[in-house]
Amino acid sequence: MDLYEYQARDLFEKYEVPVLAGIVADTPEEVKAAAEKLGGVVVVKAQVKTGGRGKAGGVKVAKNPDEAYEAAKAILGLDIKGHVVKRVMVAAGARIAEEYYFSVLLDRANRSYLSLCSVEGGMEIEQLAVEKPEALARIEVDPLTGIDQAKALEIARAANFPDELVPKVADVFVKLFAVYKGEDATLVEVNPLVRTEDGDIIALDGKVSLDENAEFRHASHTLLEDKDAADPLEAKAKENDLNYVKLDGQVGIIGNGAGLVMSTLDVVAYAGENHGGVKPANFLDIGGGASAEVMAAGLDVILGDPQVKSVFVNVFGGITACDAVAKGIVGALAELGSTASKPLVVRLDGNRVEEGRKILEDAGHPLVTLAATMDEGADKAAELANA
Ligand SMILES: Nc1ncnc2c1ncn2[C@@H]1O[C@H](COP(=O)(O)OP(=O)(O)OP(=O)(O)O)[C@@H](O)[C@H]1O
Ligand SMILES: [Mg+2]
Repeated sequence: MDLYEYQARDLFEKYEVPVLAGIVADTPEEVKAAAEKLGGVVVVKAQVKTGGRGKAGGVKVAKNPDEAYEAAKAILGLDIKGHVVKRVMVAAGARIAEEYYFSVLLDRANRSYLSLCSVEGGMEIEQLAVEKPEALARIEVDPLTGIDQAKALEIARAANFPDELVPKVADVFVKLFAVYKGEDATLVEVNPLVRTEDGDIIALDGKVSLDENAEFRHASHTLLEDKDAADPLEAKAKENDLNYVKLDGQVGIIGNGAGLVMSTLDVVAYAGENHGGVKPANFLDIGGGASAEVMAAGLDVILGDPQVKSVFVNVFGGITACDAVAKGIVGALAELGSTASKPLVVRLDGNRVEEGRKILEDAGHPLVTLAATMDEGADKAAELANA
């Protein structure tokens, strides 16, 4: 889960990373009041989960509350790479002497953490990495020891900070790592980290991504979720602990196991070429325990998508045998009643397949068609979606 800048700022503050005062506001009037409260020069900053806000006109300096009001009028409602600005942060203005870059992130390929750091901040980091790779230090961080004082000094020196600044920035790196570790983040990035004319080191802009797998030990993280921005179907799936991703086709897909679901998407897309170009409507992995409740929750989400015209249930019985899955489907259809209004093609295979098929045949639900193979099921579901 990616956080907004103001949420990152709040987390930084909690870990004593130096930040400036910031007040969030949703209207020009609120922005003006915030600027009055902060006093002096402020910066009005669009709160959107995408980069390059400055270049898009989403970051404006205001010398007084009236200018802040005008800046807010220009920024609220602005479309930045498809993200419409609904909220801004009014930040105290810094007198910047220099801009630096720092990040620590999960390096999946190397099963480790990586810190990137440069004395040339401000510029987009992707651009710096391409145009001046020698100016970007890349230091591996052992997950067991993290960024302690020694590691932080190593990073600061590798990034070519002048000797007198090394201890000061290193102290901030240790605190930023405390955020990374303490909040189970996969990314903590500060661009720019600045030195002010008074010689203070301050994190002026922060990006934080939290690891959703660690949500169970951070009750507070659910408060950071952006409920309006999420797709309502995805939100509903999440409430039911389903792995669901909405796509834009017409054939709803339910399967067990991410690999099987991925290949089902391919087979359905391929079959769709012969049936008016219909496509998969979603990814939905119901995981190991395909119980009636899980099946009902999955079907409920998929049938709630108005684009869905047919559903393909593709299950390979393993630890959860096919008869349990079949009972799950029958139970789910009974539970959903008239909500279940679209044709369902079911392919079962694996453990106790005969028993599973028999349960579905005996139930004889008018919307259910049984398919012998995955290809046959995909073809039938695509045909029904195109009918
Ligand atoms: N509080 C502040 N005081 C003074 N200048 C600021 C302040 N916040 C940002 N700036 C200036 O504006 C520039 C852009 O700000 P910021 O890094 O927050 O946005 P951005 O880089 O455009 O957005 P993103 O990081 O999302 O790509 C900074 O590099 C800095 O020079
Ligand atoms: Mg930035």
